[in-house]
Amino acid sequence: MSKVVTFGSLNMDLTIECLRLPQAGETVDGSDLILNPGGKGGNQAVAAARAGAQSQMIACVGDDVFGRELLDALKAYGVDVTHVQTRENTPSGMAFITRYHNDNRIILHAGANHALIGPEVCSVLEEIACPGDLFVTQFECDLEATFAAVERAHHMGLYTIVNPAPAKELPDHVYRCIDLLMLNETEAQFLTGIPAEGAENLHRALDWFRTRGVRNVIITLGDAGSIVCCDGQEFLVPARRVTVVDTTAAGDTYIGALAASLSQGKSMEESTRFATAAAALAIGHCGAQQSIPDQNTIEQFLKEESLC
Ligand code: RIB
Repeated sequence: MSKVVTFGSLNMDLTIECLRLPQAGETVDGSDLILNPGGKGGNQAVAAARAGAQSQMIACVGDDVFGRELLDALKAYGVDVTHVQTRENTPSGMAFITRYHNDNRIILHAGANHALIGPEVCSVLEEIACPGDLFVTQFECDLEATFAAVERAHHMGLYTIVNPAPAKELPDHVYRCIDLLMLNETEAQFLTGIPAEGAENLHRALDWFRTRGVRNVIITLGDAGSIVCCDGQEFLVPARRVTVVDTTAAGDTYIGALAASLSQGKSMEESTRFATAAAALAIGHCGAQQSIPDQNTIEQFLKEESLC
C-alpha cells in the first residue's frame, strides 16, 4: 500500500448557523456555535487516515492553544504529524464559517499556514516519500511553496492530487505536473472562465484542463454528484440522497477518501464511489474533522445501499 502525504492547511474553525445573512451594518442572531479542528489540508489528511490510508501531514501551526489542539486532533485521528512544525510568534490558522441554508461561507486567517516555504516542504518530501506514493495539496498554504511541492512530487514519481481551493490561478508548468485535479464547479468556472452549468460546458471545462496537461480531472457538483474524467473516459458518479446537516469538509472528505482508496490500488471508478459515500456521511454531521467517517462506516453504508 502506498502512503498519502498531504501538504496543507490546519485551521481552528469557528462556525455558526444563521437563518438569514446580515446586510452591511446589520446584526443577526446565530445558533449552534462550534469550535473544531479543520483546514482543508488537515481535513483531507484525516479523511485519508480514517479511510484506511497511511497518512502523513506536512504543515505548520502556531505556538498557541489552537496549534496544540490541531496537532492533538490529527494524532487522535491517526495522522502522522512528525513533519507538522510549530512556529513561535505566529498565530495558528483560523476559519470563520457561517452555515446558511445547507451551505457555508468561509473567511480564512492563514496565520502559520503561510509559514512553510518551498525548500522546506520539498526537503521533507525527499525524506519521507517514495515513487508511487500519493501527494495531496490545496491552496490555503503559501502558493509558491505549494507549486514547488507539486513540481517536486511529480518529478519524484508521486501521484499528485491538487485541489485548487480557494481558487487561484496556476501557471501552465504546474498544470503539467498534476495527475488528478479535484475541484468544485465554482473553482472550475474561476479557472477556465467556462460557466459550470450543463453537460456541454462541463465537458468543455474538463477538456480545458486536459489540454493544459492535467491527466485526470474530477469536478464535484454538490447534490448532482461528480463528473470524472479518467484516462480520457468521462463518467458521472451520482450523489447519495442524505439529510444535509453541514456541508463543511464534504469536499475534503471526498478527496481524502479517494486518495486512501487509490493508495490501496483500487480503480478510479471504485474509489469515486467510495469517496462519494464518505462525503455523504460527512454532511450528515456538523463540523469539519469531527464529521469525517471511518472506513468501516463507509463500507457499511455502501453495503446497505447495494441492498436497497
Ligand atoms: O473545506 C473546509 C475547510 O475550509 C474548513 O475546515 C476551513 O478550515 C477551511 O479551510
